[in-house]
Amino acid sequence: MCGIVAYLGQKTAQPILIEGLKRLEYRGYDSAGVALLSNGVIKIKKTSGRIAALEAILDKPQANETLGLGHTRWATHGVPNQINAHPHADYTGKIAVVHNGIIENYSTLKTWLQNEGVTFVSDTDTEVIANLIGYFYEKCDAGERTRKPQGQNRFEWAVQRALQEVHGTYGLGILCADCPDMFIGAKKGSPLILGVSEGEYILASDAAAIIEHTAKALYLSDNEMVIVTADGFHTKTIDNIAVTKSLENIEFSLEQIELGSFKHHMLKEIFEQPKALTTCMGGRIDPQNDRIHLGGVNDYLRAMTHIKRLIITACGTAFHAGLVGEFLFEQMARIITETEYASEFRYRNPIIEDGTTVIAISQSGETADTLAAVEQAKERGATVLGIVNVVGSSIARATDAGVYLHAGPEIGVASTKAFTAQVAVLTMLAIELSRRRLVSSDEATRYIKELAKIPDKISQILKQSEHIRTIAQANINQNNWLFLGRGINYPVALEGALKLKEISYIHAEGLPAAEMKHGPIALIVDGMPAVFIATNGPQYDKIIGNICEVRARKGKTIIVATEGNDHIKPYADYLITVPDAPELLQPMLTVIPLQLMAYHAAVLRGHDVDKPRNLAKSVTVE
Ligand code: M6R
Repeated sequence: MCGIVAYLGQKTAQPILIEGLKRLEYRGYDSAGVALLSNGVIKIKKTSGRIAALEAILDKPQANETLGLGHTRWATHGVPNQINAHPHADYTGKIAVVHNGIIENYSTLKTWLQNEGVTFVSDTDTEVIANLIGYFYEKCDAGERTRKPQGQNRFEWAVQRALQEVHGTYGLGILCADCPDMFIGAKKGSPLILGVSEGEYILASDAAAIIEHTAKALYLSDNEMVIVTADGFHTKTIDNIAVTKSLENIEFSLEQIELGSFKHHMLKEIFEQPKALTTCMGGRIDPQNDRIHLGGVNDYLRAMTHIKRLIITACGTAFHAGLVGEFLFEQMARIITETEYASEFRYRNPIIEDGTTVIAISQSGETADTLAAVEQAKERGATVLGIVNVVGSSIARATDAGVYLHAGPEIGVASTKAFTAQVAVLTMLAIELSRRRLVSSDEATRYIKELAKIPDKISQILKQSEHIRTIAQANINQNNWLFLGRGINYPVALEGALKLKEISYIHAEGLPAAEMKHGPIALIVDGMPAVFIATNGPQYDKIIGNICEVRARKGKTIIVATEGNDHIKPYADYLITVPDAPELLQPMLTVIPLQLMAYHAAVLRGHDVDKPRNLAKSVTVE
């Protein structure tokens, strides 16, 4: 939810921290700050607002300041103001902390520290960590309860003692004024990576802040800490047990996370979809030999051939992909499938009988609710598979096996290419299961061939971006929109409504088109936009009926239809076309105009598309 960064090396730390924070800004952007170690004193500068606001208050970078921390915040405890911004110093001024996560027992710890005479200045849970570390650092070896093992570094010990008291989640970067060549990172439940290059170390919440410096990285696991000094680094558990870890390669390049000629990451990612899907399906679908290879789950496919039930769990856009998956598994492979919000699944005492497989879908692989749902399903004995984009992320590691999206980094807060890649993976899995379950081998062959054509068809749709912009422009003053679809295009309607809401702040509802007459039709007034997905398929005639109901009440119809369908023209105030495809493969096409519509509407309304208000890219808190 927040972005953290720490640097130790020979270079001036401040510009490196700021550059890193800019790369992490999509994780949170309501306040920001840096801490630098300068001649044995920790200097903190922080402010509400974005990184640009922080830059405006910074002093000139000093060449002797080669160690520091940075933070970009998405507020949980305490409003986004200067005092609550990170880094947080402890009451002695010797410790500084940046934190991503939530400390659940902060209130108990705060009261205990206050009774010990410690004063607090902010409303955050993070300040409790800073003060706890400061407390143990100050009291080290003062009594039996605070006895440190002989030979252990005092700062390192104080961090361990503090973290042993803490319940909750954290990715932490920590400095000590007495340790001029050292920082500590610690992780539980929030991602943390250490980039390692020649004599320099950069710790960050994700690889985007590291890749500019090095492709070699150490991925910390939960309950681990890394102690970084000018002479190297070592890893331990927070209980002081040494851990040996090896460096891994960061899989993406700097180019992939830069805007290039695009104005926004969201637009770049929408246009990247043909390539993202080609990569996602590359080596996995083989139309010549009529085969699908999903290496990551291969060992599980035989068992899955006989499963009784599938549960898909996810949040937001990934949940909508899961709803598409529900149609795919039921229609193609005839497996009973339910899709559940991870935030509900984890608390509903789910019934998981023998023969149930759970699939968790997540772009980031860090969504707290989805991760908790995975743990819950595992505790109940289910096999849990992951469909995840970020390699090595918490959900990827927590699941028994999985399929990576290989869609490339997604920076825009509004998820786009991850959705189509998630649907592509679900489709491949459903086709393979349909064949193994002997549902219909001819159908499987046809789907494999059609799937291979999807990237080119998306490229065709993207050519209509300007046309879609003019439709958005014509309806930009409307504050209520409906998105309507039937069958497998109903989840696409939900996704279209979510996209419009989250970046253009226009109220929108996604509905199964036939449900409209059971209530929502009361909303329709003169000029209200109703976006229909009315592509060729068995329910085409039915949806024409729903379109007529809206037109009869003077709603404006924006229709996504199949290319070459002239019949629909009289029903459409605005028409967008997509190439023909089998009904079950259409969501990867019909979602594209809706993504573009939301993008253009947000730009026309003057919003910051990549950093919509109140949101952050990965939701690592409940
Ligand atoms: O990283 P995840 O796929 O687990 O994220 C799930 C949702 O938080 C995410 O899809 C969110 O709804 C997006 N902002 C939608 O555009």
